[in-house]
Amino acid sequence: MADDVQKLPVTPEDPVSLEKIPQLIWSLLGEAVTDKGHPFRTPVIATSNKHGPEARIVVLRRIDAERRHLECHTDVRSGKISQLTGDDAIAWVFYDAAQKIQVRARGVARIYNQDEYSHTRWTAISEHQKREYAQALPPGKKIGQEAAHYRRQSDADPESGRGNFAVISSCIHELEWLQLAREGHRRALMVFADQRWSAQWLMP
Ligand SMILES: Cc1cc2nc3c(=O)[nH]c(=O)nc-3n(C[C@H](O)[C@H](O)[C@H](O)COP(=O)(O)O)c2cc1C
Repeated sequence: MADDVQKLPVTPEDPVSLEKIPQLIWSLLGEAVTDKGHPFRTPVIATSNKHGPEARIVVLRRIDAERRHLECHTDVRSGKISQLTGDDAIAWVFYDAAQKIQVRARGVARIYNQDEYSHTRWTAISEHQKREYAQALPPGKKIGQEAAHYRRQSDADPESGRGNFAVISSCIHELEWLQLAREGHRRALMVFADQRWSAQWLMP
């Protein structure tokens, strides 16, 4: 699919290729969920707290192109959860260094924790991942030097992490695609309104 993006004509006047971009982006994101080596697999998500923006890497766990959903997993005790509880606006940034493609996605986040949906997703993750959520100390907790080499308690019952496991699901209403190329950079903005994506070229 990355090749298809490459094949898009450079001419910004071409409305067909512009129209294709949302579909291509969702295809690339879908590939990133299943392909562990995909450059879009580990995006940055940005949230806001009262002091300003916060950004960090996550793993893209699931997408739903039709519902415009992007999902990642996290510990409910992490800072990003309290930030999203205060302000549900979320931004994602994906970057493919080889193709020089940046995709930005803006949306509204919803948190699932200790509910039917989070339990469904919990059953889909590995024992190894479950143990990450079974840590006694919350993420970001200040610890001493000896504990800095903190190792997961290998005997932690993975099931004890279930309550800490959260899914951040975000519904995306804006996508921005930028490709840098010697023959000319291309930047397009896609806005979802009236049940459809409309696309517009932007000055790169
Ligand atoms: C390669 C990589 C993947 C990561 N994936 C996740 C993830 O899927 N979920 C998550 O909560 N944190 C993930 N992290 C850790 C976050 O970047 C961050 O340090 C942590 O979640 C605490 O962030 P917060 O205090 O802003 O909530 C990942 C870090 C790296 C380097």
